[in-house]
Amino acid sequence: MELTPVHFFSHGSTRMLEAETESGDYWTKCGEEALAHNVKGVVIMGAHWACLNDKIEVATNPKPLKSACPFVNPALYKDWVPNPDLKTAERCISMLNAEGFKASANPNFDWIHDTFMVLIRMFPDFKKCPPVTIISMNARYDPYYHIKVGAVMRPLRKEGYLIVGTGGAIHNLYRNRWTEMLLYRESLGQETPPEDGIMNFRQAVEDVVSKNRGPALRKAMIRLMQHPKYREAQATDDHWMPALFAAGAAGDWEDEKYSNVLGAETWELTNMCNSQFTFGRYVEKGEKERHLSKPTLGMENMTSRIGMVSA
Ligand SMILES: [Fe+2]
Repeated sequence: MELTPVHFFSHGSTRMLEAETESGDYWTKCGEEALAHNVKGVVIMGAHWACLNDKIEVATNPKPLKSACPFVNPALYKDWVPNPDLKTAERCISMLNAEGFKASANPNFDWIHDTFMVLIRMFPDFKKCPPVTIISMNARYDPYYHIKVGAVMRPLRKEGYLIVGTGGAIHNLYRNRWTEMLLYRESLGQETPPEDGIMNFRQAVEDVVSKNRGPALRKAMIRLMQHPKYREAQATDDHWMPALFAAGAAGDWEDEKYSNVLGAETWELTNMCNSQFTFGRYVEKGEKERHLSKPTLGMENMTSRIGMVSA
C-alpha cells in the first residue's frame, strides 16, 4: 500500500455506541476497509486526554482498563479488550521528540470512550482490532502544535498505519439539550432545529474540508478557529484539536492529489453535529495516478460564475 487515508470522526455523545446511526455505519465501513487493506496499526488522538504545560504523552499501558461509558448498555463495551501497540508508541515518542516536542510515555493511562467507542464500532470483534497507539493532546490547545503532531505522524501512513482524530465538528455541551438523554437515553430526537450559528459553522467545516487539499487544508482548518461562530460551535477547544491533528497528517503537498470527503453525519441533542470526514483514500502500490481535477476554490467558482454572467 502506498498511502492510507486519514479520518476525523466526530464521536458525539456516548449514545453513538449504542444507537443505530449513519455515522456508526460509516465507522464500521471504515474499519472493514482498514482490515481489507491490512492496516498495520491505528494511531489515534482523542479529545478527552490532554497534558499540561509543554508536554505530550503517548499511552504505553500494556493492559489498559476502559472508563465507564454512561447512557449505554455496558454489555456493548465491557468485554471488548483493548489492543495497545507499545512498540509503535515508543516509536511515536521518538518521532515527536526528534521534531522538538517534549513527548513521553504514560504507562498508567486507561482508555476513554472518545477512542474506544469509535474503535468498537470500527472493529466490533476486538480480536480483529489492529494494534492501537493513543496520543494525548496538549492542554494549551495551540492549533499549530496539533497540526504539527499530525504532520510528524504522517510518514506512518506510508507504512500502512491508519491515522484517526476523534473529536467533534460541532461539540458544545453547553448548547446541547440534554433532557431526553437524561430521562430516556435518547439523543437523536431533534424536536427543534439547531441554532443558526451552529448551522453556519457546520457548513463552514464541510466547505473547508471539501474545498481544500494539502497545506491549504491545514491552514483553513486552523482559520476556522477565527470563524465568528467558532465559539458557539466549540465551547472549549478540546474537541477541535483532533481535527487539526488529522489535517496535519493529511496536509502535505503530496495530499493535494486526493480529495477530502464528508462521509456521514448525525445530529444529536439538537445542537451537536457529528460529521465524519475522510481525508484521502487508500492508494495501492503501482496504482496509476488518476486524473484528478484541482480543488474547487470558492473564489474561483465565484469568478467563473461572474464571468459567465457578464459574457
Ligand atoms: Fe467527547
